[in-house]
Amino acid sequence: MKNFLITGGAGFIGSNFVHLMLKKYDDINVVVYDKMTYAGNLDNLAPVADDPRYNFYKGDICDHATVDEVMQKYKIDIIVNFAAETHVDRSLTEPGGFIQTDVYGTYILLEAAKKYEIERYHQISTDEVYGAVMEGRSVETDPLEPRSPYSAAKAGGDMMCQAYYTSFDIPITITRGSNNIGPYQYPEKVVPLFVSNAMEDKPLPLYGDGLQMRDYQYVLDHCEGIDTVLQKGKLGEIYNLGTGAETTNITMTKAILHLLGKPESLIQPITDRPGHDRRYALDCGKIQALGWNNQYNFEMAIEATVKWYVDNQDWWHKIKDGERYKEYYNRQYSGREVEK
Ligand code: NAD
Ligand code: TYD
Repeated sequence: MKNFLITGGAGFIGSNFVHLMLKKYDDINVVVYDKMTYAGNLDNLAPVADDPRYNFYKGDICDHATVDEVMQKYKIDIIVNFAAETHVDRSLTEPGGFIQTDVYGTYILLEAAKKYEIERYHQISTDEVYGAVMEGRSVETDPLEPRSPYSAAKAGGDMMCQAYYTSFDIPITITRGSNNIGPYQYPEKVVPLFVSNAMEDKPLPLYGDGLQMRDYQYVLDHCEGIDTVLQKGKLGEIYNLGTGAETTNITMTKAILHLLGKPESLIQPITDRPGHDRRYALDCGKIQALGWNNQYNFEMAIEATVKWYVDNQDWWHKIKDGERYKEYYNRQYSGREVEK
């Protein structure tokens, strides 16, 4: 049996990864280690709650003593680090927590990897570390030009991983994923926000001209890609992980409305995000050379995603009906409407 520590496993991508791995392999144990911030949700892990190979441990990756305790208690062989503050808009108003978790927390986990001489430390990173890419596609050797506190903190985490590989031979790998969509995504990110707003006949707050481009990837394709790098990736290496195709936000928004049979008059233009990156675009040739490829294109991914939120309304209502979410939404969006 291999013992996995999945940090941030109660969030969106981490919980999908836990489901995938427990389905795919009989010979693994999984410990989810999660601080349970606003984005952590045990409902995301309900389908595996009774699996004897799964354990949950509440803790902060910045807390050296608790990380040490969990490493010893569960004899961890592999760490996959999903734990992070992840929302760009929140990083613009409260950057401190991003630097703490995404940089300092990564360092604490790398120290644990060093102390316990584990088999692999895998870092989940993002295409946003390359900054806005107006032409062409980012390759793994491109310089990092992060432009938001979120992407700057993620870039710091990546560089710390590379430093631990170079300085201490820690067996690290890194994947840089694009914008994921699918089940269990907290409805602050654009797709679950727009799908759930549309279902409630509420406005869809589209930033600026809506012509920004993102590579929207189905979360299961991302998780399979991570597993491919765990199996076949070369130590010390970085792998881009996306679909390699971009969609404008306005096209994504109209696709959601069309799938739900809702009118385009629900689209509400609002003032743009400061420093909004216009486009991200990845070259994914390096991970494809390991034998991985996407199973979902944009149309399939958005359709499967919309269906999940239609079929799981209790899941998102529980979040959106809470005071914490409502307070966030008002703070973030009120008074930003611009004329259509
Ligand atoms: P999420 O916000 O849904 O979940 C983050 C999880 O981390 C939550 O469960 C939260 O409680 C936990 N967490 C936060 N701070 C912690 C701490 N200090 N200690 C322990 N746990 C903590 O995020 P997500 O969208 O699932 O993203 C997961 C990872 O993937 C992140 O590293 C993110 O940067 C990266 N990523 C996300 C996307 C995307 O589209 N969502 C794309 C590329 C990369
Ligand atoms: P988001 O889901 O926040 O991911 P990221 O900023 O990490 O790419 O946003 C995706 C795109 O959608 C981005 O171009 C910003 C835009 N967006 C809106 O137009 N309105 C919104 O309310 C949000 C949250 C995002």
